[in-house]
Amino acid sequence: MQHILDELEKRREQARKGGGDRRIASQHAKGKLTARERIDLLLDEGSFEEFDMFVEHRATEFGMAEQKIPGDGVVTGWGTVNGRVVFVFSKDFTVFGGSLSGAHAKKIVKLYEQAAKVGSPVIGLFDAGGARIQEGVEALAGYADIFLANTLYSGVIPQIAVIMGPCAGGDVYSPAIMDFIFMVKDTSYMYVTGPDVVKTVTNEDVSHEELGGYRVHALKSGVAEGAFENDLEALTQVRRLIDFLPLSNREKPPVRESFDDPDRQEPSLDSLVPANPNKPYDMKELIYKIVDEADFFEISKDWAKNIVCGFARMDGEPIGIVANQPQVLAGVLDIDAARKAARFVRFCDAYNIPIVTLVDVPGFMPGTKQEQGALIKHGAKLLFAYAEATVPKITLITRKAYGGAYDVMSSKHIRGDFNYAWPTAEIAVMGAKGAVEIIFRADLNDPEAIAAREAEYKQRFANPFVAASLGYIDDVIMPHGTRRRIVRALKSLKGKQLSNPWKKHDNIPL
Ligand code: HXC
Repeated sequence: MQHILDELEKRREQARKGGGDRRIASQHAKGKLTARERIDLLLDEGSFEEFDMFVEHRATEFGMAEQKIPGDGVVTGWGTVNGRVVFVFSKDFTVFGGSLSGAHAKKIVKLYEQAAKVGSPVIGLFDAGGARIQEGVEALAGYADIFLANTLYSGVIPQIAVIMGPCAGGDVYSPAIMDFIFMVKDTSYMYVTGPDVVKTVTNEDVSHEELGGYRVHALKSGVAEGAFENDLEALTQVRRLIDFLPLSNREKPPVRESFDDPDRQEPSLDSLVPANPNKPYDMKELIYKIVDEADFFEISKDWAKNIVCGFARMDGEPIGIVANQPQVLAGVLDIDAARKAARFVRFCDAYNIPIVTLVDVPGFMPGTKQEQGALIKHGAKLLFAYAEATVPKITLITRKAYGGAYDVMSSKHIRGDFNYAWPTAEIAVMGAKGAVEIIFRADLNDPEAIAAREAEYKQRFANPFVAASLGYIDDVIMPHGTRRRIVRALKSLKGKQLSNPWKKHDNIPL
């Protein structure tokens, strides 16, 4: 009997070694942890249980019959994050560069099916060189099987990708379908085709970093929702994110005991909005001051900064916040802002997370660049996302809500449940100056007349009371009492039931 137990331990030990000491040392020398070290940091201590540790590839060509490493380049299994069950796969770069074989793919698909059955998130840690070149179509088939699982379980279980090394070729599309992508600064990069292919096709000389490093994806393309300094910080932050999310679409978001007074008043908010309507202020100050313990997990912090999205709690209940940021481009809605917020709103709606929208928006961004870039379709994404969302929706207009952007930003008309405004709100088709220059074009040569018209327009529309008199604003509230009012609104909406007409699926303007 003992020798059988010894054999098991020996095999386990061999599997845990992955590609061996030399490759592990090389992984560490690059500032990267191994697949198993990462899992240990992500999960609660001692909670990881591995599946398929002894799976091997079945390829025979190019000398592969003689090269078999148990686990075949991906570590899969489940464990807990603060006591809640999650499923994990972690690519092992020390084994054939983490590349994907048919057997490797089957392990991931099996994990997905189990996670979906149980109703638990999947977290994927990526560090791999794409399709296993020696396997050919088996690897391509394996990718497609994973993409199918990613797609079928999108909106069923949260899926989080962390890019912790190379992520090339077939590997990029799985994260792209998942809900959030985080990168590790300086050690990770993502691209469809690498620098060599780029050189051949376009004759461009470009490094891995320039082509797909975090500066490209977390700052410019928006492909990644964030970037962290190192493996440890990335994994710690994913743990923090998981705490805000329900484990599946079958659950309500996790309520945590709050030690922050739900009635807490914030007198400083009464002077947050500057007297001059063209002066910026920091919308994040409002967020930090109204949420529990100033705890805000921001999504895409460094991309499309004119809109702020992220998770927080109000009296212990998770919420998603979408807020125009007057400090960046005056908070205007442009293509990137619309894409960022639309995806976030849809995530919240899929997972029963109430949405709090903070509005200070001068409209949509004008210009040829935006129009040629399909602002119409991209802007419509955000409109569509808000309109179809059935979770509790609370809106607060702090200052400007102009034009189409007023409609889009969770207005009453697209089923906002509680629509509040501060006394400083201005709800109009456009700013007074622009409005007067159009409707009183004949007076343009008479500065006095124009000034009088402008004052008249401001008096009529630069306040929340016209909208409130029509019932489009439910109440005009004092800034210092904002936290209390939103907490109360969320409580009253707990039993909200609303569904959309039956359909196979919608046709969001992609
Ligand atoms: C098999 C691979 C591999 C791959 C790396 N390795 N990529 N083995 N298939 N795709 C192996 C190497 O042979 C090496 O083995 C080990 O992994 C480490 O690789 P290095 O090149 O030494 O590492 P590094 O210098 O850090 O470079 C990493 C890399 C590079 C940039 C990822 O390995 C690379 O360019 N790989 C190929 C990337 C690629 O073109 N993949 C195919 C994409 S096409 P040893 O034994 O020496 O440790 C694709 C199509 C799918 O994915 C489309 C589906 C939609």
